[in-house]
Amino acid sequence: MHLLAAFTVLLAAVAASGRRTTKRKIGERQLEAAKRWQTSNTQSQNVKRGGVQNITFTNSKASEFYVDGKSLPLVDFDVGPSWAGLLPISSNPNETRQLYFWFFPPGPEGSLDDLIFWTNGGPGCSSLEGLLQENGPFSWSWGQAKPTVNQQSWTNLSSVLWVEQPVGTGFSQGIPNAQNEDDVAAQLVGFMQQFLEVFSELKGKKLYLTGESYAGTYVPYIANYIYENPTLLDLSLQGIWISDPLMSWDVVQEQIPAVDFVNKYAGLFSFNQTYMNYLEKKAAVCNYTGYMDKYVTYPPTGLLPLPGDSVEFAPGCDVWDDIFYNALIINPAFDVYRIWDTYPILWDVLGFPGSFAQTQSPIYFNRRDVKKAIHAPVDTEWSECSNINVFPNGDNSLPPAFTVLPNVIEKNQRTVIVHGLADFILIADGYDFVFDPLSVYILTHWNDLQGFQTPIANDSFIVDGVGAYGTMHSERGLTYYEVALSGHMIPQFAPVAAFQIMQYLMGFRATP
Ligand SMILES: *[C@@H]1O[C@H](CO)[C@@H](O)[C@H](O)[C@H]1NC(C)=O
Ligand SMILES: *[C@@H]1O[C@H](CO)[C@@H](O)[C@H](O)[C@H]1NC(C)=O
Ligand SMILES: *[C@@H]1O[C@H](CO)[C@@H](O)[C@H](O)[C@H]1NC(C)=O
Ligand SMILES: *[C@@H]1O[C@H](CO)[C@@H](O)[C@H](O)[C@H]1NC(C)=O
Ligand SMILES: *[C@@H]1O[C@H](CO)[C@@H](O)[C@H](O)[C@H]1NC(C)=O
Ligand SMILES: *[C@@H]1O[C@H](CO)[C@@H](O)[C@H](O)[C@H]1NC(C)=O
Repeated sequence: MHLLAAFTVLLAAVAASGRRTTKRKIGERQLEAAKRWQTSNTQSQNVKRGGVQNITFTNSKASEFYVDGKSLPLVDFDVGPSWAGLLPISSNPNETRQLYFWFFPPGPEGSLDDLIFWTNGGPGCSSLEGLLQENGPFSWSWGQAKPTVNQQSWTNLSSVLWVEQPVGTGFSQGIPNAQNEDDVAAQLVGFMQQFLEVFSELKGKKLYLTGESYAGTYVPYIANYIYENPTLLDLSLQGIWISDPLMSWDVVQEQIPAVDFVNKYAGLFSFNQTYMNYLEKKAAVCNYTGYMDKYVTYPPTGLLPLPGDSVEFAPGCDVWDDIFYNALIINPAFDVYRIWDTYPILWDVLGFPGSFAQTQSPIYFNRRDVKKAIHAPVDTEWSECSNINVFPNGDNSLPPAFTVLPNVIEKNQRTVIVHGLADFILIADGYDFVFDPLSVYILTHWNDLQGFQTPIANDSFIVDGVGAYGTMHSERGLTYYEVALSGHMIPQFAPVAAFQIMQYLMGFRATP
């Protein structure tokens, strides 16, 4: 009797709670949550305020690059004034190599004293991806039927310059010939000199170099080149942002942490037990298992061994690729850039909505009217990631973590390294090793010490108005963030967090 009565009461409760949730109420909750995020930082007092920004350029050549923000094809709102086009990488009148850029002045709340430079990675991937899907003033992201205003645009902080580099990327012109990262830096600095001749009002600004993925290699080398050649550029470099950066050996950033990563997100991978057992065995044979517990200490106590006898994975030890291959068996939409994507693969106006290119859309930057509107070369076929190798003989530079990065951190006012926790192409846990004194692949000494002296604490990254959103650790000029619920492209997947991190980098807020 009692049991039956309790059961009836329970049923009634379930039915009632079912009824309590109406479509309208769910919608209201969602709106309320979205609003909380929208207003969390762009409206806060941390945003540096200024007057309405109205940059005018006195060099008459600048007007040739002017883009009318009211007439961008398929964009039904005014994105504001901007300047775009090709400029050569040197003053040599015979120079055939030109980089494509798109420059936006600061929005009403932004600073006129600063300039942010952004580059995507690849190598060979276009920074217009960043502009249109990550941190630009208008967004046309995966699955969106049409573009929208980006409330977390980095133009709300200051001027932003997106550049397609190195030569061979996007609309940029000329035959790629970079052999290493110093060549890339020399190209970019040469371009910047030409840019500052035309847009001379930007001379003397505080400069921030930012980028993601392979730009984790570009950006530290470009910064180092600028610091080592201080007379080349009339800009004052202040700091760098690198997100989901490639900056060490693949074995460190992909292989060692891969099986632990699968275990952490077991439900999302949904591998069967037989395969999990096989993976565990393989990780053990390859010396990946327990690597972190065994070797990573705070403060670091000594040099760490490589899992094998080389900086490459040993034969039979490519667990990363094994996981990727088998993830695609269960989930053919598996996205290495954000592990929880499933069918349907989203429509993408840039044709690259995840792990693989999709030819389902007319590519926005391949439309003739778009190319004309933004002064892009109409005969150049644009693709998000170049089909030609921008390093014809490979990139001969060592990863920056054990070459230039320590020097750059020491010279910067602030340095931020950011990583999305749901990124599988490069894995956040790999950085704990990078920051440790590994024998060959370390970010060695910076500011007199090796690695981080104290561990990264849980829930230590607090997004204003929202709360804990991953972890953050700051030591000796380097601030490292692990961002919750974000894949590889931080400004796309966690725009509010990205905006706050940029505010910190630029000195617009005191704390990370
Ligand atoms: C910006 O400058 C242009 C040219 O000097 C001027 O016509 C325009 O009114 C200005 N706009 C604002 C908002 O001040
Ligand atoms: C440019 O090319 C012309 C013709 O080939 C050559 O005579 C000239 O020296 C070159 N100028 C420079 C600065 O290389
Ligand atoms: C941020 O930028 C967007 C796009 O330009 C703009 O609509 C929005 O008003 C800006 N927000 C602030 C607080 O300036
Ligand atoms: C694992 O470490 C052991 C001991 O250092 C070594 O003998 C072995 O070759 C390593 N295995 C691989 C696959 O690198
Ligand atoms: C388990 O997963 C492996 C690897 O994908 C696959 O080869 C095998 O057929 C799967 N077994 C079952 C029962 O699904
Ligand atoms: C931090 O979080 C992890 C994962 O949730 C947990 O295993 C660990 O115990 C936590 N560390 C501390 C110091 O609480």
